[in-house]
Amino acid sequence: MEVIILDNKIDIGLAIAKEIIKDIKNNPKLNLGLATGSSPLPLYKSLIELSKLENISFKDITTFNLDEYCGLSNDNKESYHYFMNENLFKYLDFSKDSHYFPSIDNVNNYDEIINNHGGIDIQILGIGANGHIAFNEPNTPISSVTHITNLANKTILDNSRFFSNIDEVPTQAITMGLSTILKAKKIYLIATGKNKAEAISIMLKGKYIKECPASALNLKKDNVYIYLDKDAASLISK
Ligand code: F6R
Repeated sequence: MEVIILDNKIDIGLAIAKEIIKDIKNNPKLNLGLATGSSPLPLYKSLIELSKLENISFKDITTFNLDEYCGLSNDNKESYHYFMNENLFKYLDFSKDSHYFPSIDNVNNYDEIINNHGGIDIQILGIGANGHIAFNEPNTPISSVTHITNLANKTILDNSRFFSNIDEVPTQAITMGLSTILKAKKIYLIATGKNKAEAISIMLKGKYIKECPASALNLKKDNVYIYLDKDAASLISK
C-alpha cells in the first residue's frame, strides 16, 4: 500500500487522472471500476479534460460501478446511474452498453460478469467516515461478493446531504463485496476532509480490522494507492 498526500482534492484528481490515461494508452480496452460520491468528482473532471486534450478514446473501455441504491429508478437524480452519466459518461465517447452497475437483477452474477470481461484493471474507491468501501459496511465478511446490504445509520446520515430529506435516503443498496474489490488489479482510494481522518488512521494501521472494511486493502500486496489531502491524513500515527 502506497500513501500519497497532496495539497487538495484537485491535485489528487489530476494525479490519478494522469495515471489512468497512461494506462489507457497502454491498454485501450481497460476495465474501469468506478465510484460515485464527492471524492471522485475532481478525478472525473480531470479525466474528461485530459482525455479531450490528448484525444484519448473510451470507445473500448468497459466500466463497472461499485454500487447502486435499491429502489431508485435509473433516471432518479440521486441514483448512481444518473450521477455517472452526468459527471463522466456523457462527456466521453464510451460505447453504448459499456457500463455495468450491480442491480437486483444481476446481484448473483455481477462478479461473474466482471470475471468474464477479464476482471477490473483499475478500481476507484472513496471511503465512508465509518470506514466503508463501496457499501461494505463495518463487519461485512472479507469473503463477500456482490450482495444486497442494509446501509448503516451513519451512511444514511452522511448521504442525506444529497437528498432533500433524510427519509428519502434508501436504506438498502447493492454493492460489490470486499472480495470483489480486492480482485481488482490496481486500486486508487481517495479520501479528503477531516471527517475521513479517523477511518484513514485505522485503515493505515497495516492490518485487517473487520470494523473498518477499508482496512481489507491491507490484504492486497501491491498496486494499492491511497491518495489523501492533509485533513484526511491528519490522524495518521507516525
Ligand atoms: C460510492 C461509494 C461509497 C463512497 C463513500 C464516500 O460509490 O462506493 O463508498 O465512496 O461513501 O463518499 P463521499 O466521496 O461522498 O464522501
